[in-house]
Amino acid sequence: MFTTMQQPNLPSSRLTGFHRLSLAERQTIVHDWASQTSRHWDETSRQDLFGPPNGLDLQTADQLIENTIGRFALPLGIATNFRINGRDRLIPMITEEPSVIAGASNAARLMRLAGGITASSDPPLMIGQVQLLDVPQMKRAMAALNEKKAAILAAANEALGSLAQRGGGAREIELRQLSHAKIGPMLVVHLLVDCQDAMGANAINTALERIAPSLAEISKGRVVLRILSNLNDRRLARARAQINADAFSHSSVDGPPILQRVYEAAALAEIDPYRAATHNKGILNGIDAVVLATGNDWRAVEAGAHAYAARTGNYRSLSTWQVDEYGNLMGSLELPLALGIVGGSTRAHPGAKAALALLDVQSASELAEIVASVGLAQNFAALLALAGEGIQHGHMRLHARQIALSAGASDEMVGQIAAVMIAENDIRPSRAAELMKSMTSAGDHS
Ligand code: MEV
Repeated sequence: MFTTMQQPNLPSSRLTGFHRLSLAERQTIVHDWASQTSRHWDETSRQDLFGPPNGLDLQTADQLIENTIGRFALPLGIATNFRINGRDRLIPMITEEPSVIAGASNAARLMRLAGGITASSDPPLMIGQVQLLDVPQMKRAMAALNEKKAAILAAANEALGSLAQRGGGAREIELRQLSHAKIGPMLVVHLLVDCQDAMGANAINTALERIAPSLAEISKGRVVLRILSNLNDRRLARARAQINADAFSHSSVDGPPILQRVYEAAALAEIDPYRAATHNKGILNGIDAVVLATGNDWRAVEAGAHAYAARTGNYRSLSTWQVDEYGNLMGSLELPLALGIVGGSTRAHPGAKAALALLDVQSASELAEIVASVGLAQNFAALLALAGEGIQHGHMRLHARQIALSAGASDEMVGQIAAVMIAENDIRPSRAAELMKSMTSAGDHS
């Protein structure tokens, strides 16, 4: 699947100087932008996305989970400059980590110079597993299950109700005989379900529980687990992009051109799990931030990403990078992305609903393509910093504000303390505390 949403006359997501504006000015720009670009954005979206609890009142919070006692807020930012499959996007991202949104926006800026990001996705097929033990005759059980396949799929579709009526539903069963478990041999039945625009966990688990008794009867075995797999390797999303060598007229670092160094840095993650884990964490910095903003299950995405990264038996990077003869850099990323735009908290959480309205996505696949694109951009941003002047330079500048805040600085003091620490190139909690003390006592005497 390849989702292109080209629309004429849309405003650009290339928002020069966005980060220098006040928070209120940014909100106005995003509101105006979304009003022109999204079919779903309205006044309620504006209030829910920008308001302090993101529309999540305590009563709704109490409905979402059990034992609710409050809500927990995190910063919501906007990554600018993204062009994905020919369409400009402003991306809502929730993260507590400085540099993530700035890095993604800068990478998207560089990628759009070479035409932007191209993304695609598989149909939204989820895998569910039924574990059968004590199967007396494996071969016979497998043959019988294959023979009854149509009836099993029909029963699953009956359980899936409206999903099946809307064109989704159970598509296939696959049988896996596993003989190396410490509890003896077992038969695992995979049910493949097209979950359409839902993440699909509830749908698939419902279908599995419905068909499990028949699977036990047909195989003459005993059912234990009935649960989806988070290794969604039938629901992959991909993104690729180029960064042109001429985007870098000068390099602040001696040695080979910066894009060559990015390529060299990325090569380590292809062979070394110690590096691959960090490399993939950088990708997930971007991915999780959008997954969280849109009310999706980021633990499922994390589990799927890491399992997919280890699919060959060696844990490796989810992305690959190449340089061509002209020094241009090409990157691609592929990972499972089980995301929904209906169901779960995507609609029940007003803030998530508003984030989806900002994105104006029409399908879960389109959302997955955007999320994969952000992952690729985030990966490039990290590699660019690492291969250039190092991650700490830019990171610590942004981090200085957090350090000032955690030292107890007031809103008015945060900027001043951060500026002094940056100028001194001494960004530490103890220095923030000293500066705060001297500023407070200077204030006391004035
Ligand atoms: C930090 O949150 C993420 C990075 O470590 C990713 C990477 O090393 O590629 C910078």
